[in-house]
Amino acid sequence: MQYLAIFASGGGSNALQIMEYFASHSSIKIALVVCNKADAGVLLHAQKHKIPSHIITPQCLQNPEKMLGLLGLHHINYIALAGFLKQIPAYLVQAFPEKIVNIHPALLPKYGGKGMYGMHVHQAVVANAETETGITIHLVDEVYDHGKHLLQKTCEVLATDTAADVAKKVLALEHAHFAPVLEKLILNP
Ligand code: GAR
Repeated sequence: MQYLAIFASGGGSNALQIMEYFASHSSIKIALVVCNKADAGVLLHAQKHKIPSHIITPQCLQNPEKMLGLLGLHHINYIALAGFLKQIPAYLVQAFPEKIVNIHPALLPKYGGKGMYGMHVHQAVVANAETETGITIHLVDEVYDHGKHLLQKTCEVLATDTAADVAKKVLALEHAHFAPVLEKLILNP
């Protein structure tokens, strides 16, 4: 069995999709949800799916002993960042080389980097009158929004689209592709 942890900060619609996709998987189990916000919706999804969850402080995230202890306790060997808005510290990247996967709501390297998350990305895409945007699923390295791309998918941006319209299209792509990409990576590393 391969044990996947989901790190998330918000509503967790991607996390929920991943939980449902792997719910009765023969060789991949969602073993832990790690969240940095006590009131995040993702915690309710974890509870409903009977997945242990752990709320971490910024100090905890920077503490190798605590974090590696927590992940070790749950036998974690892969980590999916599903709307996790904190940078992953270098010690964690080194402990899980090519085993941490992030989803970004744009076509990196465009609209990446600090401050580019969630609706900020879609607002920038609309402000720049882009005609297409999309998603990037990538391995995590020590550089923010960097790392080998595993998949990019595009969608059209209409001149009449609002940032909320774009967010809807991008989320649909995320929900369709994140779990299968994780499955492929974990089963064929
Ligand atoms: C997703 O669109 C994800 O790509 C984005 O946050 C959203 C979380 O939605 N992540 C980033 O912007 C990371 N830079 P969700 O909580 O409904 O899954």
